[in-house]
Amino acid sequence: MNTSPRKTVLTCAQPSGKLQLGNYFGAVKNWVSVIEEYDCFFGIVDQHAITMPYSPADLRKATYETLAVYLACGLDPEKCSIFAQSHVIGHTELAWILGCICPLGQLERMTQFKDKAKRQGQNVGAGLLYYPVLMAADILLYNAHAVPVGEDQKQHIEITRDLAQKFNATYSPTFNIPEPMIPQTAARIRSLQDPTSKMSKSDPNPNGCVYLLDPPSVIRKKIASAVTDSGCDICRDDENKPGISNLLEIYSASSGKSVAELEAQYQGSNYGQFKSDVADAVIALLEPIQQRYAEYTENKDYLNEVLKKGAEAAQKIAYKTLAKVYRKAGFVERPR
Ligand code: AMP
Ligand code: TRP
Repeated sequence: MNTSPRKTVLTCAQPSGKLQLGNYFGAVKNWVSVIEEYDCFFGIVDQHAITMPYSPADLRKATYETLAVYLACGLDPEKCSIFAQSHVIGHTELAWILGCICPLGQLERMTQFKDKAKRQGQNVGAGLLYYPVLMAADILLYNAHAVPVGEDQKQHIEITRDLAQKFNATYSPTFNIPEPMIPQTAARIRSLQDPTSKMSKSDPNPNGCVYLLDPPSVIRKKIASAVTDSGCDICRDDENKPGISNLLEIYSASSGKSVAELEAQYQGSNYGQFKSDVADAVIALLEPIQQRYAEYTENKDYLNEVLKKGAEAAQKIAYKTLAKVYRKAGFVERPR
């Protein structure tokens, strides 16, 4: 189907411009690093975003913001395809067909569905239940070999693999069985306020989380107020010094220096100086990203161009897959 000798990597993210440091080190930075090696598709999944209550104006804005952040982080649209899910015909079409072979019970048992449904109370839309099927379609439509995701998405990749296998067995071999691509070496960034839990945009304490677009003064303040411990050694000890260990991790990931190098450099130093230097390193990393972000958001025409180019490349493959799938499903060919 995809005649290119390179393997295909696809990943998607819901439109939310508010990425935090953990998203950068745990996800976006790794996407940038695979661009040279694979045919890469990055989807901004606006159709997934409407499975929870939302505002249309906010969704539109967030879609552009997300695109601008990704570009600013280094996803080069000349080397990969970045597209909006709703621009490509085939995602919802394939989801319908996969849904017809997907056991209802399996969808009802998905952890993310149960969590989100609980939060919604009485008003759970059927789209939320169908979310994993649409995600499977996102992946299979491009016949992706590998899907970079976080741990929390593993169950969704499992169901995608199940559906691919079931389709192949029910009709005939069609889809690759995609592998999750979970970077082993990526930094796991924890909350500045509760260094035993991961940094997350849903942190109850907003000071626990550094957003990529936080102004330098805010970053400095958040890092200065990061929880540490009563000791004074700057060394990694995840159990007894989770706060300092997390800051070392952040410093290392931001500066490219190893934790061991930093430990040696800060022997005998105090927490105040150390934190100030961590802040400098994070700001040095984020300032150019923020500058590029500001330029991209000013230039709507360029953002639209990127989306157009991405959608065209994605659509080409999507149509091919869809035609094949429709034929196998027994649909009469559309008269030309
Ligand atoms: P989320 O914002 O939770 O939807 O996560 C999006 C992506 O960022 C996933 O691939 C996560 O694994 C990654 N990610 C989110 N938070 C962190 C973190 N604190 N440390 C490392 N990776 C993270
Ligand atoms: N469910 C993913 C998340 O919340 C987003 C997503 C949708 C996705 N479709 C995908 C991720 C396809 C990878 C591949 O993070």
